[in-house]
Amino acid sequence: MNDPAVDTACVRIGMLGFGTVGEGTWRMLQDNRAAIAKKVGTQIEVARVGVRDLVKPRLVSPSIVTGDLESIVDDPTIDVIVELMGGVDPAGRLIERALKNGKHVVTANKELIAKQGSRLMRLAAKQGLDLHFEGAVGGGIPLIQPLKHQLSGNEVLKLMGILNGTTNYVLTKMQEEESDLDVALQEAQEKGYAEADPTSDIDGFDPQYKLSILSSIAFNAEMPVEGVYREGIKRVSKRDIEFADLLGFRVKLLGIAEAVKPTGSDEAGGVRARVHPTLIPKEHPLADVRDVYNAVWIQGDFVGDVMFSGRGAGASATGSAVVGDLIDVCRNIQIGGAGNNMPIDNLLQPLSMDGLRTAFYLRMTVQDRPKALGCIATVFGNCNISLAAMEMRTLPRGRGEIVFLTHPCIELSFHRSLKALRNIHFIESLENWIRVEGGGA
Ligand code: NAP
Ligand code: HSE
Repeated sequence: MNDPAVDTACVRIGMLGFGTVGEGTWRMLQDNRAAIAKKVGTQIEVARVGVRDLVKPRLVSPSIVTGDLESIVDDPTIDVIVELMGGVDPAGRLIERALKNGKHVVTANKELIAKQGSRLMRLAAKQGLDLHFEGAVGGGIPLIQPLKHQLSGNEVLKLMGILNGTTNYVLTKMQEEESDLDVALQEAQEKGYAEADPTSDIDGFDPQYKLSILSSIAFNAEMPVEGVYREGIKRVSKRDIEFADLLGFRVKLLGIAEAVKPTGSDEAGGVRARVHPTLIPKEHPLADVRDVYNAVWIQGDFVGDVMFSGRGAGASATGSAVVGDLIDVCRNIQIGGAGNNMPIDNLLQPLSMDGLRTAFYLRMTVQDRPKALGCIATVFGNCNISLAAMEMRTLPRGRGEIVFLTHPCIELSFHRSLKALRNIHFIESLENWIRVEGGGA
């Protein structure tokens, strides 16, 4: 504790993990060192770094690098733990131990916060410590703090956004350069946007965690991860992107959470949260959010519409969010503040997808037969679905490709129509269907 080599005038940081985001955080602390020290009123020193591979060359002196991460969270000279390793275990255990040892924590770990955030926030509050996680959602975009503070007087009615940089990068490349998904994903990985296991991005787990976190804060009750409906982008083909373009839409992986009043299809009312590919009109502000950029639109009862956007992944953008949290923690340390957590004690009852009212895009391959269109239209009519638009392409060997856009209908009715369409012999394949936001009447 009284080691004369330890500078007690500065805030000492222990970093758990020193990969993409760890390096981005460290670089910002170095490059902006003087300005940050002025703002905080003290120096921030990265005193210890925990990693798995001790042979890999690092930007920091080997003398502060260790494979024994527990020794960092137990080190009495460390004031703040910055967890940037990812995953639930051992990250969750280490954070819990750090909080119990009286250390503030900053993390960018969305999986851990989505799964164990309530418990860890309660522990931090009990200990009078900060647990900040701005970097966990939207990379460099300030989202968590504005929702917890500046917007918190509002009742949030709906929030909707692009919450994953990797898939937005992939969809942009598929749209603009006709790249294959695998090639674009490889590029996103090389740029440091993807998760260690990129299926978390492609299959929508990463935005599912992020929407669970945002919903919990926005609606002030825990939205369990499994309460967020999830679909990834694997089913989206270049053909869908082409047809969407023809019809005036872009395809985006959106996270949408909204407070639903009791209605015929949603008797109970509540909150519905969902992540899935979505067609949005080209004139919608989210349609122009390209590349690794994320954007989140929030509608509050008093503030109206607010939109946040910026780089949603990568070393520098996420490092910026982590350093912002660190500065907040350091200021609290300076004033002896008791932490500004917002523990959430009640659980949300998420609504199922069955009662959702939305429009759909449906692409199918058919054999060219007289009365085929009439037959398909009858199925939709029988399921109470009216059609808003249609596109057709002739294929070789007497076949055709047809795309329908429906008017908004109840999700359950749409699935009933799919079941009936599967029984029609001249329909070779229902290739894909995608929900449509803000289009049609
Ligand atoms: P990364 O590049 O894979 O780095 C992970 C770091 O943690 C590495 O230094 C790794 O050690 C270390 N590590 C992992 N497991 C460990 C273990 N069991 N014991 C010791 N060290 C371990 O990951 P990242 O992209 O920086 O992401 C880190 C966190 O930030 C994740 O929670 C991620 O979801 C989140 N995040 C990432 C981004 C982004 O754009 N990449 C953006 C926002 C949030 P080695 O170096 O020895 O392998
Ligand atoms: N893999 C994540 C993404 C990192 O692509 O959005 C940022 O959270």
